[in-house]
Amino acid sequence: MLSPLDVLSIETWMLLISVVVLIRFYIHKKWQFFKNRNIPHDQPSLLGLGSFIAFMGDPDAMVTYDLEHKQKYGPVFGVYFWLSPILVICDPEILKQIFIKEFSTFPNRQNKFLKVNGKEMNASLLSTTGDQWKRIRSTLTPTFSSAKLKAMMGIIEQCSDEASKSLKMVADTKGGRFDAKETFGRLSLDVICSAAFSANVHSQEGEETPKIVQMAKKAFDISFTNPVILLIIMFPWLETIFHKFDYSIFPRDMLNYFKSLTEVLIQKRRSGSSNLKQRVDLMQLMLNVKVSEEDVKNGATKGMTLNEIIGNSMIMMLAGYETTKSALVFLAYNLAAHKDVQEKLQQEIEETIKEHGGLTYDGINNMKYLTMCINESLRLYTPVARNARIAEKDITINGLNIPKGTEVQVPFYGMCHDDEYWDEPFEFKPERMEDMNKIDPMVYMPFGAGPRNCIGMRFALMEIKMAICKLLHEFDLDVCEDTPSAPLKVVFRDTIRAKDDISLKVIPRCNQ
Ligand code: HEM
Repeated sequence: MLSPLDVLSIETWMLLISVVVLIRFYIHKKWQFFKNRNIPHDQPSLLGLGSFIAFMGDPDAMVTYDLEHKQKYGPVFGVYFWLSPILVICDPEILKQIFIKEFSTFPNRQNKFLKVNGKEMNASLLSTTGDQWKRIRSTLTPTFSSAKLKAMMGIIEQCSDEASKSLKMVADTKGGRFDAKETFGRLSLDVICSAAFSANVHSQEGEETPKIVQMAKKAFDISFTNPVILLIIMFPWLETIFHKFDYSIFPRDMLNYFKSLTEVLIQKRRSGSSNLKQRVDLMQLMLNVKVSEEDVKNGATKGMTLNEIIGNSMIMMLAGYETTKSALVFLAYNLAAHKDVQEKLQQEIEETIKEHGGLTYDGINNMKYLTMCINESLRLYTPVARNARIAEKDITINGLNIPKGTEVQVPFYGMCHDDEYWDEPFEFKPERMEDMNKIDPMVYMPFGAGPRNCIGMRFALMEIKMAICKLLHEFDLDVCEDTPSAPLKVVFRDTIRAKDDISLKVIPRCNQ
Protein backbone atom coordinates (compact mmCIF):
# COMPACT_ATOMS: atom_id res chain seq x y z
CA MET A 1 0.00 0.00 0.00
CA LEU A 2 1.19 3.49 -0.86
CA SER A 3 2.30 5.45 2.18
CA PRO A 4 2.00 9.34 2.26
CA LEU A 5 5.79 9.46 2.34
CA ASP A 6 5.91 7.68 -1.02
CA VAL A 7 3.96 10.61 -2.53
CA LEU A 8 5.71 13.54 -0.89
CA SER A 9 8.75 13.94 1.30
CA ILE A 10 8.35 14.55 5.03
CA GLU A 11 9.57 18.15 4.58
CA THR A 12 6.95 18.84 1.89
CA TRP A 13 4.23 17.35 4.09
CA MET A 14 5.35 19.50 6.99
CA LEU A 15 5.33 22.57 4.79
CA LEU A 16 1.84 21.81 3.43
CA ILE A 17 0.42 21.16 6.88
CA SER A 18 1.98 24.37 8.18
CA VAL A 19 0.42 26.37 5.31
CA VAL A 20 -3.03 24.85 5.96
CA VAL A 21 -2.72 25.53 9.70
CA LEU A 22 -1.60 29.09 9.03
CA ILE A 23 -4.51 29.74 6.65
CA ARG A 24 -6.94 28.25 9.16
CA PHE A 25 -5.43 30.41 11.90
CA TYR A 26 -5.70 33.49 9.67
CA ILE A 27 -9.37 32.77 8.94
CA HIS A 28 -10.06 32.08 12.61
CA LYS A 29 -8.47 35.39 13.54
CA LYS A 30 -10.55 37.27 10.96
CA TRP A 31 -13.69 35.64 12.34
CA GLN A 32 -12.97 36.95 15.84
CA PHE A 33 -13.91 40.49 14.80
CA PHE A 34 -17.44 40.40 16.21
CA LYS A 35 -16.66 38.08 19.09
CA ASN A 36 -13.94 40.44 20.33
CA ARG A 37 -16.44 43.28 20.29
CA ASN A 38 -19.37 41.37 21.78
CA ILE A 39 -21.46 41.92 18.68
CA PRO A 40 -23.98 39.11 18.16
CA HIS A 41 -23.63 37.15 14.91
CA ASP A 42 -24.20 33.74 13.35
CA GLN A 43 -21.27 31.37 13.60
CA PRO A 44 -19.37 31.68 10.28
CA SER A 45 -18.30 28.55 8.42
CA LEU A 46 -15.95 27.71 5.58
CA LEU A 47 -18.70 26.05 3.56
CA GLY A 48 -21.01 28.99 4.12
CA LEU A 49 -18.24 31.42 3.04
CA GLY A 50 -18.66 33.07 6.42
CA SER A 51 -22.39 33.77 6.41
CA PHE A 52 -22.34 34.86 2.77
CA ILE A 53 -24.27 31.86 1.39
CA ALA A 54 -27.12 32.23 3.90
CA PHE A 55 -27.17 35.95 3.29
CA MET A 56 -26.79 36.15 -0.48
CA GLY A 57 -27.10 32.63 -1.86
CA ASP A 58 -30.85 32.62 -2.28
CA PRO A 59 -32.15 35.91 -3.65
CA ASP A 60 -35.35 35.49 -1.61
CA ALA A 61 -33.43 34.94 1.60
CA MET A 62 -31.89 38.36 1.84
CA VAL A 63 -35.15 40.18 2.36
CA THR A 64 -36.20 37.99 5.29
CA TYR A 65 -32.68 37.58 6.71
CA ASP A 66 -32.55 41.10 8.14
CA LEU A 67 -35.91 40.88 9.88
CA GLU A 68 -35.20 37.47 11.40
CA HIS A 69 -31.75 38.49 12.58
CA LYS A 70 -32.92 41.76 14.07
CA GLN A 71 -35.53 39.82 15.98
CA LYS A 72 -32.92 37.30 17.11
CA TYR A 73 -30.04 39.65 17.95
CA GLY A 74 -31.47 43.18 18.30
CA PRO A 75 -30.73 46.31 16.23
CA VAL A 76 -26.96 45.74 15.84
CA PHE A 77 -25.53 42.45 14.60
CA GLY A 78 -22.71 41.13 12.49
CA VAL A 79 -22.45 39.11 9.28
CA TYR A 80 -19.28 37.76 7.66
CA PHE A 81 -19.06 38.14 3.88
CA TRP A 82 -16.39 35.47 3.66
CA LEU A 83 -13.68 37.14 5.75
CA SER A 84 -15.06 40.68 5.73
CA PRO A 85 -17.12 41.68 8.75
CA ILE A 86 -20.29 43.61 7.89
CA LEU A 87 -21.91 45.49 10.73
CA VAL A 88 -25.68 45.55 10.22
CA ILE A 89 -27.32 48.48 12.06
CA CYS A 90 -31.07 49.12 12.43
CA ASP A 91 -30.82 51.53 15.36
CA PRO A 92 -32.16 54.93 14.14
CA GLU A 93 -30.07 56.92 16.63
CA ILE A 94 -26.81 55.33 15.47
CA LEU A 95 -27.87 55.64 11.83
CA LYS A 96 -28.48 59.37 12.24
CA GLN A 97 -24.89 59.78 13.39
CA ILE A 98 -23.53 57.68 10.54
CA PHE A 99 -25.54 59.23 7.71
CA ILE A 100 -25.69 62.83 8.85
CA LYS A 101 -23.71 63.99 11.88
CA GLU A 102 -20.60 61.91 11.21
CA PHE A 103 -20.81 62.00 7.40
CA SER A 104 -17.15 62.99 7.17
CA THR A 105 -16.26 59.66 8.82
CA PHE A 106 -18.66 57.73 6.56
CA PRO A 107 -18.52 59.46 3.16
CA ASN A 108 -18.57 56.36 0.95
CA ARG A 109 -21.00 53.52 0.33
CA GLN A 110 -18.52 50.82 -0.49
CA ASN A 111 -14.85 49.94 -0.60
CA LYS A 112 -15.14 47.03 -3.06
CA PHE A 113 -16.22 46.97 -6.72
CA LEU A 114 -15.30 50.60 -7.22
CA LYS A 115 -12.74 49.92 -9.94
CA VAL A 116 -14.19 47.00 -11.88
CA ASN A 117 -17.12 48.69 -13.61
CA GLY A 118 -15.33 49.75 -16.81
CA LYS A 119 -13.23 52.90 -17.19
CA GLU A 120 -16.15 55.32 -17.59
CA MET A 121 -18.46 53.85 -14.94
CA ASN A 122 -15.58 53.83 -12.47
CA ALA A 123 -15.81 57.63 -12.73
CA SER A 124 -19.53 57.77 -11.91
CA LEU A 125 -21.08 59.15 -8.72
CA LEU A 126 -21.83 55.63 -7.55
CA SER A 127 -18.19 54.53 -7.68
CA THR A 128 -16.15 57.64 -6.94
CA THR A 129 -14.86 58.62 -3.51
CA GLY A 130 -13.15 61.57 -1.80
CA ASP A 131 -12.48 64.78 -3.70
CA GLN A 132 -13.52 63.31 -7.05
CA TRP A 133 -16.99 62.43 -5.68
CA LYS A 134 -17.30 65.86 -4.02
CA ARG A 135 -16.43 67.67 -7.26
CA ILE A 136 -18.83 65.61 -9.38
CA ARG A 137 -21.67 65.72 -6.86
CA SER A 138 -21.47 69.51 -6.45
CA THR A 139 -21.33 69.89 -10.23
CA LEU A 140 -24.40 67.70 -10.76
CA THR A 141 -26.56 68.88 -7.84
CA PRO A 142 -27.90 72.06 -9.55
CA THR A 143 -29.31 69.87 -12.34
CA PHE A 144 -32.02 68.67 -9.99
CA SER A 145 -33.09 72.10 -8.70
CA SER A 146 -36.81 73.00 -8.80
CA ALA A 147 -36.24 75.34 -11.73
CA LYS A 148 -34.47 72.65 -13.80
CA LEU A 149 -37.05 70.03 -12.91
CA LYS A 150 -39.85 72.38 -13.89
CA ALA A 151 -38.15 72.89 -17.23
CA MET A 152 -38.01 69.11 -17.77
CA MET A 153 -41.67 68.64 -16.82
CA GLY A 154 -42.98 69.00 -20.39
CA ILE A 155 -40.72 66.20 -21.59
CA ILE A 156 -41.89 63.90 -18.81
CA GLU A 157 -45.50 64.72 -19.64
CA GLN A 158 -44.89 63.90 -23.29
CA CYS A 159 -43.47 60.46 -22.42
CA SER A 160 -46.37 59.79 -20.05
CA ASP A 161 -48.77 60.74 -22.85
CA GLU A 162 -47.08 58.18 -25.08
CA ALA A 163 -47.57 55.55 -22.37
CA SER A 164 -51.26 56.46 -22.15
CA LYS A 165 -51.55 56.27 -25.93
CA SER A 166 -50.11 52.77 -26.05
CA LEU A 167 -52.32 51.70 -23.14
CA LYS A 168 -55.33 53.05 -25.03
CA MET A 169 -54.37 50.75 -27.89
CA VAL A 170 -54.05 47.87 -25.44
CA ALA A 171 -57.53 48.68 -24.12
CA ASP A 172 -58.92 48.66 -27.66
CA THR A 173 -57.19 45.51 -28.85
CA LYS A 174 -56.22 43.31 -25.92
CA GLY A 175 -58.99 43.78 -23.42
CA GLY A 176 -56.77 46.23 -21.56
CA ARG A 177 -54.33 43.62 -20.24
CA PHE A 178 -50.69 44.72 -20.06
CA ASP A 179 -47.40 43.60 -18.59
CA ALA A 180 -46.63 46.22 -15.93
CA LYS A 181 -42.88 45.54 -15.84
CA GLU A 182 -42.55 45.96 -19.61
CA THR A 183 -44.79 49.04 -19.87
CA PHE A 184 -43.29 50.96 -16.96
CA GLY A 185 -39.77 49.85 -17.90
CA ARG A 186 -40.14 51.44 -21.32
CA LEU A 187 -41.72 54.58 -19.90
CA SER A 188 -38.98 54.94 -17.33
CA LEU A 189 -36.26 54.60 -19.95
CA ASP A 190 -37.92 57.05 -22.34
CA VAL A 191 -38.20 59.62 -19.57
CA ILE A 192 -34.64 59.36 -18.34
CA CYS A 193 -33.19 59.35 -21.86
CA SER A 194 -35.19 62.28 -23.13
CA ALA A 195 -35.49 64.46 -20.03
CA ALA A 196 -31.91 63.99 -19.01
CA PHE A 197 -30.22 63.72 -22.41
CA SER A 198 -32.67 64.87 -25.09
CA ALA A 199 -32.32 61.44 -26.65
CA ASN A 200 -35.70 60.41 -28.00
CA VAL A 201 -35.35 56.66 -27.89
CA HIS A 202 -39.11 55.96 -28.28
CA SER A 203 -38.78 52.66 -26.50
CA GLN A 204 -42.56 52.59 -26.02
CA GLU A 205 -43.24 52.31 -29.74
CA GLY A 206 -43.70 48.94 -31.43
CA GLU A 207 -44.07 45.42 -30.15
CA GLU A 208 -40.46 44.29 -30.24
CA THR A 209 -38.23 45.02 -27.26
CA PRO A 210 -36.02 47.92 -28.44
CA LYS A 211 -32.26 47.48 -28.26
CA ILE A 212 -31.87 50.17 -25.58
CA VAL A 213 -34.31 48.33 -23.31
CA GLN A 214 -32.47 45.04 -23.89
CA MET A 215 -29.18 46.73 -23.03
CA ALA A 216 -30.53 48.52 -19.95
CA LYS A 217 -31.87 45.18 -18.70
CA LYS A 218 -28.42 43.65 -19.11
CA ALA A 219 -26.99 46.15 -16.67
CA PHE A 220 -29.11 44.63 -13.93
CA ASP A 221 -28.37 41.03 -14.69
CA ILE A 222 -25.15 40.95 -12.74
CA SER A 223 -25.08 37.64 -10.93
CA PHE A 224 -23.69 37.33 -7.44
CA THR A 225 -22.41 33.93 -8.52
CA ASN A 226 -20.07 35.55 -11.09
CA PRO A 227 -16.70 33.97 -10.14
CA VAL A 228 -14.91 37.33 -10.34
CA ILE A 229 -17.38 38.89 -7.91
CA LEU A 230 -16.92 35.96 -5.54
CA LEU A 231 -13.13 36.16 -5.88
CA ILE A 232 -13.11 39.88 -5.07
CA ILE A 233 -15.37 39.31 -2.06
CA MET A 234 -12.98 36.59 -0.85
CA PHE A 235 -9.75 38.39 -1.74
CA PRO A 236 -10.42 42.14 -2.05
CA TRP A 237 -6.83 42.86 -3.15
CA LEU A 238 -7.60 41.07 -6.44
CA GLU A 239 -9.71 44.06 -7.48
CA THR A 240 -6.55 46.09 -8.18
CA ILE A 241 -5.33 43.38 -10.54
CA PHE A 242 -8.67 43.10 -12.38
CA HIS A 243 -8.70 46.91 -12.61
CA LYS A 244 -5.28 46.86 -14.33
CA PHE A 245 -6.88 44.78 -17.09
CA ASP A 246 -9.89 47.16 -17.24
CA TYR A 247 -12.13 44.26 -16.24
CA SER A 248 -15.80 45.11 -15.80
CA ILE A 249 -18.43 43.17 -13.88
CA PHE A 250 -20.95 44.74 -16.31
CA PRO A 251 -21.39 43.07 -19.70
CA ARG A 252 -18.98 44.68 -22.16
CA ASP A 253 -21.54 44.99 -24.98
CA MET A 254 -23.86 46.90 -22.65
CA LEU A 255 -21.06 49.28 -21.64
CA ASN A 256 -20.02 49.83 -25.27
CA TYR A 257 -23.61 50.42 -26.33
CA PHE A 258 -24.27 53.13 -23.73
CA LYS A 259 -20.85 54.63 -24.20
CA SER A 260 -21.36 55.11 -27.93
CA LEU A 261 -24.92 56.36 -27.41
CA THR A 262 -23.59 59.03 -25.05
CA GLU A 263 -20.73 59.90 -27.40
CA VAL A 264 -23.12 60.35 -30.33
CA LEU A 265 -25.29 62.66 -28.22
CA ILE A 266 -22.26 64.71 -27.15
CA GLN A 267 -21.09 64.90 -30.76
CA LYS A 268 -24.50 66.14 -31.93
CA ARG A 269 -24.35 68.99 -29.48
CA ARG A 270 -20.78 69.87 -30.34
CA SER A 271 -21.50 70.01 -34.05
CA GLY A 272 -24.31 72.47 -33.33
CA SER A 273 -26.45 70.56 -35.84
CA SER A 274 -29.45 70.91 -33.56
CA ASN A 275 -30.89 73.39 -31.13
CA LEU A 276 -30.14 71.00 -28.31
CA LYS A 277 -27.83 73.54 -26.69
CA GLN A 278 -30.90 75.55 -25.67
CA ARG A 279 -32.43 72.61 -23.85
CA VAL A 280 -32.31 72.17 -20.12
CA ASP A 281 -30.98 68.71 -19.54
CA LEU A 282 -28.38 66.90 -17.58
CA MET A 283 -25.95 66.35 -20.40
CA GLN A 284 -25.94 70.00 -21.48
CA LEU A 285 -25.29 71.06 -17.91
CA MET A 286 -22.34 68.70 -17.69
CA LEU A 287 -20.97 69.81 -21.06
CA ASN A 288 -21.24 73.45 -19.96
CA VAL A 289 -18.82 72.75 -17.13
CA LYS A 290 -16.48 70.34 -18.89
CA VAL A 291 -12.90 70.55 -17.65
CA SER A 292 -9.71 68.82 -18.81
CA GLU A 293 -7.83 66.07 -16.98
CA GLU A 294 -5.12 68.71 -16.53
CA ASP A 295 -7.54 71.08 -14.73
CA VAL A 296 -8.48 68.26 -12.37
CA LYS A 297 -4.84 67.47 -11.67
CA ASN A 298 -4.36 71.16 -10.88
CA GLY A 299 -7.07 70.98 -8.21
CA ALA A 300 -10.31 72.07 -9.97
CA THR A 301 -13.18 71.81 -7.46
CA LYS A 302 -16.00 72.07 -10.03
CA GLY A 303 -16.55 70.57 -13.46
CA MET A 304 -16.22 67.12 -15.02
CA THR A 305 -13.87 65.55 -17.52
CA LEU A 306 -15.16 63.91 -20.71
CA ASN A 307 -14.65 60.45 -19.20
CA GLU A 308 -16.66 61.50 -16.12
CA ILE A 309 -19.42 63.00 -18.27
CA ILE A 310 -19.77 59.73 -20.18
CA GLY A 311 -19.68 57.62 -17.01
CA ASN A 312 -22.20 59.78 -15.18
CA SER A 313 -24.54 59.94 -18.17
CA MET A 314 -24.52 56.15 -18.17
CA ILE A 315 -25.08 55.87 -14.44
CA MET A 316 -28.01 58.31 -14.53
CA MET A 317 -29.66 56.19 -17.20
CA LEU A 318 -29.05 53.00 -15.29
CA ALA A 319 -29.68 54.26 -11.74
CA GLY A 320 -32.79 56.09 -12.90
CA TYR A 321 -34.19 53.28 -15.00
CA GLU A 322 -34.65 50.18 -12.86
CA THR A 323 -35.44 51.93 -9.58
CA THR A 324 -38.13 54.19 -11.05
CA LYS A 325 -39.54 51.33 -13.11
CA SER A 326 -39.84 49.17 -9.96
CA ALA A 327 -41.44 52.01 -8.01
CA LEU A 328 -44.01 52.51 -10.79
CA VAL A 329 -44.78 48.80 -11.15
CA PHE A 330 -45.37 48.39 -7.41
CA LEU A 331 -47.42 51.57 -7.12
CA ALA A 332 -49.65 50.62 -10.06
CA TYR A 333 -50.08 47.15 -8.57
CA ASN A 334 -51.01 48.52 -5.13
CA LEU A 335 -53.53 50.90 -6.64
CA ALA A 336 -55.06 48.19 -8.84
CA ALA A 337 -55.39 45.94 -5.81
CA HIS A 338 -56.89 48.68 -3.59
CA LYS A 339 -59.83 50.20 -5.43
CA ASP A 340 -60.83 52.48 -2.55
CA VAL A 341 -57.38 54.09 -2.53
CA GLN A 342 -57.43 54.36 -6.32
CA GLU A 343 -60.79 56.13 -6.33
CA LYS A 344 -59.70 58.59 -3.67
CA LEU A 345 -56.57 59.35 -5.66
CA GLN A 346 -58.56 59.79 -8.88
CA GLN A 347 -60.70 62.33 -7.07
CA GLU A 348 -57.62 64.29 -6.03
CA ILE A 349 -56.28 64.16 -9.60
CA GLU A 350 -59.52 65.55 -11.05
CA GLU A 351 -59.64 68.33 -8.45
CA THR A 352 -56.02 69.24 -9.19
CA ILE A 353 -56.61 69.35 -12.96
CA LYS A 354 -59.65 71.58 -12.41
CA GLU A 355 -57.80 73.90 -10.03
CA HIS A 356 -54.56 74.21 -12.03
CA GLY A 357 -55.98 73.86 -15.54
CA GLY A 358 -53.93 70.67 -16.12
CA LEU A 359 -51.22 68.58 -14.52
CA THR A 360 -48.77 71.36 -13.71
CA TYR A 361 -45.54 71.08 -11.69
CA ASP A 362 -47.03 72.97 -8.74
CA GLY A 363 -50.35 71.17 -8.95
CA ILE A 364 -48.74 67.74 -8.91
CA ASN A 365 -46.38 68.65 -6.09
CA ASN A 366 -49.28 69.84 -3.93
CA MET A 367 -51.17 66.54 -4.15
CA LYS A 368 -51.05 65.23 -0.62
CA TYR A 369 -52.83 61.92 -1.10
CA LEU A 370 -50.69 61.09 -4.14
CA THR A 371 -47.56 61.66 -2.05
CA MET A 372 -48.97 59.43 0.70
CA CYS A 373 -49.66 56.61 -1.80
CA ILE A 374 -46.16 56.88 -3.29
CA ASN A 375 -44.47 56.95 0.13
CA GLU A 376 -46.43 53.93 1.29
CA SER A 377 -45.71 51.98 -1.88
CA LEU A 378 -41.99 52.80 -1.55
CA ARG A 379 -42.13 51.50 2.02
CA LEU A 380 -43.93 48.28 1.16
CA TYR A 381 -41.70 47.50 -1.83
CA THR A 382 -38.52 49.49 -1.19
CA PRO A 383 -36.67 49.44 -4.56
CA VAL A 384 -33.23 49.51 -2.90
CA ALA A 385 -33.18 46.86 -0.16
CA ARG A 386 -29.97 47.76 1.62
CA ASN A 387 -27.55 50.61 1.85
CA ALA A 388 -24.04 50.91 3.24
CA ARG A 389 -21.35 53.23 4.52
CA ILE A 390 -17.65 52.62 5.20
CA ALA A 391 -15.92 53.98 8.31
CA GLU A 392 -12.89 55.97 7.17
CA LYS A 393 -11.50 56.14 10.72
CA ASP A 394 -12.06 54.54 14.14
CA ILE A 395 -15.16 55.93 15.79
CA THR A 396 -17.40 55.15 18.78
CA ILE A 397 -21.10 55.94 18.45
CA ASN A 398 -23.44 55.48 21.40
CA GLY A 399 -20.96 53.05 22.93
CA LEU A 400 -20.60 51.05 19.71
CA ASN A 401 -16.98 50.86 18.60
CA ILE A 402 -16.63 50.91 14.78
CA PRO A 403 -13.04 50.43 13.60
CA LYS A 404 -11.62 52.08 10.47
CA GLY A 405 -12.50 50.16 7.30
CA THR A 406 -15.67 48.54 8.71
CA GLU A 407 -18.60 48.29 6.36
CA VAL A 408 -21.88 49.29 7.98
CA GLN A 409 -25.03 48.07 6.26
CA VAL A 410 -28.55 49.41 6.73
CA PRO A 411 -31.33 46.98 5.96
CA PHE A 412 -33.85 49.42 4.44
CA TYR A 413 -36.24 46.69 3.44
CA GLY A 414 -36.18 45.02 6.82
CA MET A 415 -36.72 48.32 8.64
CA CYS A 416 -39.64 49.17 6.40
CA HIS A 417 -41.29 45.86 7.41
CA ASP A 418 -40.46 45.88 11.08
CA ASP A 419 -43.55 45.69 13.29
CA GLU A 420 -41.67 47.67 15.91
CA TYR A 421 -42.23 50.69 13.65
CA TRP A 422 -45.17 49.80 11.46
CA ASP A 423 -48.59 48.47 12.32
CA GLU A 424 -49.42 45.57 9.91
CA PRO A 425 -46.19 46.18 7.96
CA PHE A 426 -47.14 43.99 4.98
CA GLU A 427 -50.37 45.91 4.32
CA PHE A 428 -50.70 48.83 1.90
CA LYS A 429 -52.06 51.70 4.01
CA PRO A 430 -51.32 55.19 2.60
CA GLU A 431 -52.99 56.78 5.66
CA ARG A 432 -49.95 55.94 7.79
CA MET A 433 -47.94 58.41 5.65
CA GLU A 434 -50.28 61.32 6.36
CA ASP A 435 -47.96 63.07 8.79
CA MET A 436 -44.36 62.50 7.77
CA ASN A 437 -43.18 64.34 10.92
CA LYS A 438 -44.27 61.26 12.85
CA ILE A 439 -42.07 58.98 10.78
CA ASP A 440 -38.42 58.64 11.68
CA PRO A 441 -36.38 59.50 8.55
CA MET A 442 -33.79 56.94 9.68
CA VAL A 443 -36.42 54.18 9.66
CA TYR A 444 -37.97 55.19 6.36
CA MET A 445 -35.31 56.21 3.82
CA PRO A 446 -36.07 54.76 0.38
CA PHE A 447 -33.71 57.31 -1.20
CA GLY A 448 -30.98 57.03 1.41
CA ALA A 449 -30.00 59.91 3.69
CA GLY A 450 -27.45 62.65 4.27
CA PRO A 451 -25.14 64.36 1.77
CA ARG A 452 -24.74 61.14 -0.25
CA ASN A 453 -28.45 60.42 -0.67
CA CYS A 454 -30.08 59.75 -4.05
CA ILE A 455 -29.32 62.70 -6.31
CA GLY A 456 -32.23 61.76 -8.60
CA MET A 457 -34.90 61.59 -5.87
CA ARG A 458 -36.90 64.64 -6.91
CA PHE A 459 -36.63 63.70 -10.56
CA ALA A 460 -37.89 60.18 -9.82
CA LEU A 461 -40.78 61.45 -7.71
CA MET A 462 -41.81 63.91 -10.40
CA GLU A 463 -41.77 61.16 -13.01
CA ILE A 464 -43.79 58.76 -10.85
CA LYS A 465 -46.33 61.45 -9.99
CA MET A 466 -46.84 62.54 -13.58
CA ALA A 467 -47.08 58.98 -14.94
CA ILE A 468 -49.61 57.85 -12.32
CA CYS A 469 -51.72 61.02 -12.62
CA LYS A 470 -51.93 60.64 -16.42
CA LEU A 471 -52.73 56.96 -16.12
CA LEU A 472 -55.46 57.31 -13.51
CA HIS A 473 -56.95 60.35 -15.22
CA GLU A 474 -57.60 58.26 -18.32
CA PHE A 475 -58.06 54.75 -16.97
CA ASP A 476 -59.20 52.67 -14.06
CA LEU A 477 -56.60 50.13 -13.08
CA ASP A 478 -57.51 46.57 -12.24
CA VAL A 479 -55.80 43.27 -11.49
CA CYS A 480 -56.20 40.26 -13.84
CA GLU A 481 -57.18 36.70 -12.81
CA ASP A 482 -53.53 35.65 -12.77
CA THR A 483 -52.08 38.73 -11.06
CA PRO A 484 -50.28 37.48 -7.94
CA SER A 485 -51.96 38.41 -4.69
CA ALA A 486 -50.42 40.67 -2.03
CA PRO A 487 -47.92 40.76 -0.49
CA LEU A 488 -45.96 40.22 -3.69
CA LYS A 489 -43.00 37.88 -3.63
CA VAL A 490 -39.88 39.88 -4.34
CA VAL A 491 -36.37 38.98 -5.36
CA PHE A 492 -33.24 40.89 -4.65
CA ARG A 493 -30.82 41.72 -7.45
CA ASP A 494 -29.38 45.17 -7.02
CA THR A 495 -32.92 46.43 -6.70
CA ILE A 496 -36.02 44.73 -5.35
CA ARG A 497 -38.20 43.28 -8.10
CA ALA A 498 -41.47 41.40 -8.23
CA LYS A 499 -40.65 37.71 -8.59
CA ASP A 500 -43.59 36.97 -10.89
CA ASP A 501 -44.98 38.78 -13.89
CA ILE A 502 -47.38 41.53 -12.95
CA SER A 503 -50.27 41.64 -15.40
CA LEU A 504 -52.65 44.53 -14.89
CA LYS A 505 -55.68 45.79 -16.77
CA VAL A 506 -56.66 49.29 -17.91
CA ILE A 507 -60.31 50.23 -18.40
CA PRO A 508 -60.90 53.60 -20.09
CA ARG A 509 -62.81 55.88 -17.74
CA CYS A 510 -66.24 57.03 -18.87
CA ASN A 511 -65.31 60.71 -18.42
CA GLN A 512 -62.81 60.31 -21.33
C1 HEM B 1 -37.71 55.44 -7.16
C2 HEM B 1 -36.55 55.70 -7.71
C3 HEM B 1 -35.24 55.70 -7.00
C4 HEM B 1 -34.87 55.14 -5.81
C5 HEM B 1 -35.74 54.36 -4.83
C6 HEM B 1 -33.47 55.43 -5.61
C7 HEM B 1 -32.75 55.04 -4.49
C8 HEM B 1 -31.42 55.37 -4.27
C9 HEM B 1 -30.68 55.05 -3.08
C10 HEM B 1 -31.23 54.30 -1.88
C11 HEM B 1 -29.44 55.52 -3.23
C12 HEM B 1 -28.30 55.43 -2.20
C13 HEM B 1 -28.36 56.69 -1.35
C14 HEM B 1 -27.47 56.68 -0.13
O1 HEM B 1 -26.41 56.06 -0.18
O2 HEM B 1 -27.82 57.30 0.90
C15 HEM B 1 -29.35 56.16 -4.53
C16 HEM B 1 -28.22 56.76 -5.05
C17 HEM B 1 -28.17 57.32 -6.31
N1 HEM B 1 -29.22 57.48 -7.20
FE1 HEM B 1 -31.13 56.91 -6.89
N2 HEM B 1 -33.01 56.15 -6.68
C18 HEM B 1 -34.05 56.35 -7.56
C19 HEM B 1 -34.02 57.06 -8.75
C20 HEM B 1 -32.91 57.67 -9.28
C21 HEM B 1 -32.89 58.46 -10.49
C22 HEM B 1 -34.10 58.78 -11.37
C23 HEM B 1 -31.60 58.83 -10.70
C24 HEM B 1 -30.99 59.67 -11.81
C25 HEM B 1 -31.63 60.54 -12.51
C26 HEM B 1 -30.81 58.29 -9.61
C27 HEM B 1 -29.45 58.44 -9.46
C28 HEM B 1 -28.73 58.07 -8.34
C29 HEM B 1 -27.31 58.30 -8.18
C30 HEM B 1 -26.38 58.92 -9.22
C31 HEM B 1 -26.96 57.85 -6.90
C32 HEM B 1 -25.59 57.92 -6.25
C33 HEM B 1 -25.47 59.24 -5.50
C34 HEM B 1 -24.10 59.49 -4.85
O3 HEM B 1 -23.41 58.54 -4.51
O4 HEM B 1 -23.75 60.66 -4.72
N3 HEM B 1 -31.64 57.60 -8.76
N4 HEM B 1 -30.59 56.06 -5.14
